[in-house]
Amino acid sequence: MDLNFKIAQRRYLGNKNTILPFIEKIIKEEIGDFNSFCDIFAGTGTVGNRFNTKNTKIILNDLLYHNFVALNAFLSQDNFNKDKIVEIINNFNKLSIKEDNYFSINFGNRYFSINNARKIGFIREEIRKLFLRHKINRREKDILLTSLNYSIDKIANTVGHYDAYIKKELKDVKFEMKMLNIDNEKNINNEIYNKDANILIRDIECDILYLDPPYNSRQYSDAYHLLENLTLWQKPKVEGVAKKFDRTHIKSEYCKITATKSFEDLVMNAKAKYILLSYNNMANKGNHRSNARISDEDIFRILSSRGNVKIFEQIHKEFNAGKKRRDDNKERVFFVEVSK
Ligand SMILES: C[S@@+](CC[C@H](N)C(=O)[O-])C[C@H]1O[C@@H](n2cnc3c(N)ncnc32)[C@H](O)[C@@H]1O
Repeated sequence: MDLNFKIAQRRYLGNKNTILPFIEKIIKEEIGDFNSFCDIFAGTGTVGNRFNTKNTKIILNDLLYHNFVALNAFLSQDNFNKDKIVEIINNFNKLSIKEDNYFSINFGNRYFSINNARKIGFIREEIRKLFLRHKINRREKDILLTSLNYSIDKIANTVGHYDAYIKKELKDVKFEMKMLNIDNEKNINNEIYNKDANILIRDIECDILYLDPPYNSRQYSDAYHLLENLTLWQKPKVEGVAKKFDRTHIKSEYCKITATKSFEDLVMNAKAKYILLSYNNMANKGNHRSNARISDEDIFRILSSRGNVKIFEQIHKEFNAGKKRRDDNKERVFFVEVSK
């Protein structure tokens, strides 16, 4: 059994774990050496992490706060005391909580057993108190929050996201927080942001800009509202069967009809030597919700305005809510050497 959580050890829609060798091969063959890499729709951060060395600057960014916290936990350069965190985690793992809290009232007997939900809410509150009392610094807080998020992902009564839970009687399966697998020596040049990519793009420069936006109407803020809520811990009012909070401010333009306009703005404002775009080929093939928001013609037109475009393809086994994978689900990477 692994002692620590690795960055890829969580379920996340559209994560690129399985195609990392494919992306790496394209970069090796088309670019070779580089100094900086920007993963501007980083999600789990698994792509940026792949290219993280002590000589490379990795810029990571995501609109969702719980992803920003995880990116910071794994890839920031800030100091932390490992022994202290391990001791806190060991104490958390021993807890058994009988009192209700915000988390157990809203999510208990739904996504988690009532006892596990009580424990999760209690631990979250303890992390808040430790930080407010200056017992842990911001990086240590982010490590603890990310450990909590990764550990509960293993026991959540879902198919991997929080749009819905499975209706069944829940047992008290054990969840275990662990230290994260962190190599701070490699992180010395990294920068991590929690911004809209279209705003951040105006302030950064990099050799390689990797774009992995959502490609259909499915909002990540809907799929991961529970982790976002737990990490922010502002205890908002939740609604509906899925118990979601108001996510208006974290809706992505890339999931809306405005996607093409946003994508064009992003590409036109990019200050990079190379642009790589992952965008899959589900256009008009799956159900309505999985239809791609930006057409191939528009992608090609927009990218061509910055330089010569090459397209690389590979069959990608995608995680799609427990159903069988679609055989025609090719993962594509568009590659541009910026010249205009
Ligand atoms: C396809 S996922 C990225 C997956 C990632 N490459 C991985 O391997 O985990 C797209 C990500 O873009 C983020 N996102 C959506 N709109 C955004 C925006 N306007 N600015 C920044 N991030 C955004 C979502 O929160 C989501 O994590």
